[in-house]
Amino acid sequence: MNGKLTRTLAIMAIMILGCAIWAYAGSHEMPKADPDALWEYITEESPYDSWKFWPDHQGMQPGRAPHGPLHKVYVNDRAFNSSRPPVQYGSIAVKENYGKDKELKAITVMYKKRGFNPGDGDWFWAKYSPDGKADKYGKPAGCVGCHGTRANNDFILVHEFK
Ligand code: HEC
Repeated sequence: MNGKLTRTLAIMAIMILGCAIWAYAGSHEMPKADPDALWEYITEESPYDSWKFWPDHQGMQPGRAPHGPLHKVYVNDRAFNSSRPPVQYGSIAVKENYGKDKELKAITVMYKKRGFNPGDGDWFWAKYSPDGKADKYGKPAGCVGCHGTRANNDFILVHEFK
């Protein structure tokens, strides 16, 4: 082999390796502020039902309108490990909303995404049907307005930071 060919092959090998590393690292990144990417993340890449409950809000709990009579709120490690508001970027809270007979009605999610909505805590909001169809997402005025009554608790209602 001549030197030029060797060099070309070496450069190609480095590029292929680089792409592989990039793709691998990318698969572990947080999702973008997009309802389908977020759903995929919380159901496949990091299934939320393996996350934690906040110590002061464990398991099934009674709830208020508009979310329905019963719910569970799961939080990822970034949220769980945030000791004071605002929580770390990348924090996610997933709320399963149940009817009175414990039938799963909807899944509502808050995802802390840098730069998404800086005036209102940088939360990406989404409401899904149980099979993952997003019917509201982004910065709906309802979600932001009602949770905004506790802006000093980083828009989080079920957990008190101490
Ligand atoms: C009228 C007030 C109100 C509106 C509107 C509202 N929420 Fe909530 N949300 C609550 C209350 C109250 C709780 C506490 C749990 C409960 O009572 O169900 C809560 C809890 C949550 C939680 C659990 C984390 C936390 O903050 O404690 C998530 C996630 C959530 N809501 C998402 C949403 C999304 C997404 C929307 C918009 C589609 C929304 N909420 C609209 C009142 C509201």
